[in-house]
Amino acid sequence: KIYPVILSGGAGTRLWPLSRAALPKQLLPVVADKTMLQDTALRLNGRPELLQPLIVCGNEHRFLVAEQLREINVKPLGILLEPEGRNTAPAIAAAAHYLKAIDAEAVMLVLPADHVISDTEAFYAAILRAAALVEHGALATFGIVPTAPETGYGYIKSGEPLPVGDNCLKVDRFVEKPDRATAEEFVKAGNYFWNSGMFLFRADDYLKELQQFQPAIASATAEAVAKGYRDLDFCRLDEEAFAASPSDSIDYAVMEHTRHAVVVPAAIGWNDVGSWSALWEVQQRDANGNACRGDVYLDGVKNSLVRAENRCVAVIGIENVVIVETNDAVLVAHKDQVQRVKQVVDHLKCQD
Ligand code: GDD
Ligand code: MG
Repeated sequence: KIYPVILSGGAGTRLWPLSRAALPKQLLPVVADKTMLQDTALRLNGRPELLQPLIVCGNEHRFLVAEQLREINVKPLGILLEPEGRNTAPAIAAAAHYLKAIDAEAVMLVLPADHVISDTEAFYAAILRAAALVEHGALATFGIVPTAPETGYGYIKSGEPLPVGDNCLKVDRFVEKPDRATAEEFVKAGNYFWNSGMFLFRADDYLKELQQFQPAIASATAEAVAKGYRDLDFCRLDEEAFAASPSDSIDYAVMEHTRHAVVVPAAIGWNDVGSWSALWEVQQRDANGNACRGDVYLDGVKNSLVRAENRCVAVIGIENVVIVETNDAVLVAHKDQVQRVKQVVDHLKCQD
């Protein structure tokens, strides 16, 4: 049996102005009618190998998360609350300590709450392939065949095929967020995968590696769980102990260093919806290549994403644009330049 752990802590600033700190993209119906967290939880439903998910999220999002799960009749194993975000290595470590206390041999499936996976059957099959490996102490990653030299991903250099498991490989090297030139080299080389950000391993194996490479995270999170307490349906991590943990991602803290990483190639229709152009790619588009939501009027518009949350939005005679209207902010951008939304958010933060 596998314990899914859903990470629901990111700020999702790249989908501004829709996604905000108070209401990040995983808690919004960005792609479909359900929120991304709901889609993530529903994807696990009815799979005999998977237990109820454990959610890890920020304290400020607790009621939204609980309500969204109730709406879809998912009863989580628990909702772990972080007093403040310390990135993914501590979030996963807290979950690992929590699960180990329930089940000494717990195998955890770490899932971001904000990814699109269109082939759910292939996704489940990949999980089962990975499950065959983790009994031998492996930390399994799910590799995506890269289509562009993206610099926002981790890259996995695959090594020899493994004797166990179905079409799985050793990891020769894990490089988190390389620069552009390096990413280009990796894509050209042909034996690199993108790291999907999902992982499968035994809780104790992850903690062992963390203990070796980032002992301060391992010990701070152990204490945060041990001193944590139940509050309604939630489990609150101890504030002081958790605050003492260094902030780092699992990719830098563990995956770049461990010698036990393996990769399960996964053709699952994966997209992390990390930008408005990525969202345009995964959304339904009309004959002109437009993806629209809300009260939108288009005339002579092509290959664009237009989203109206409150008001009617009319667009005439332009192509390759992203227009997002919300209550208090409007974004108009060229579709090829949407990575610069991040700078807008930084700028607005400075004004606060
Ligand atoms: N609970 C919790 N607490 N969740 C968090 C926190 C935190 O402090 N920080 C991030 N998360 C969640 C995010 O919501 C997201 O679902 C997931 O963890 C990954 O965090 P990101 O911040 O989105 O990571 P990234 O996109 O920069 O990089 C990761 O994902 C890429 C694929 O999308 C890495 O694993 C890369 O190697 C990978 O390629
Ligand atoms: Mg991400």
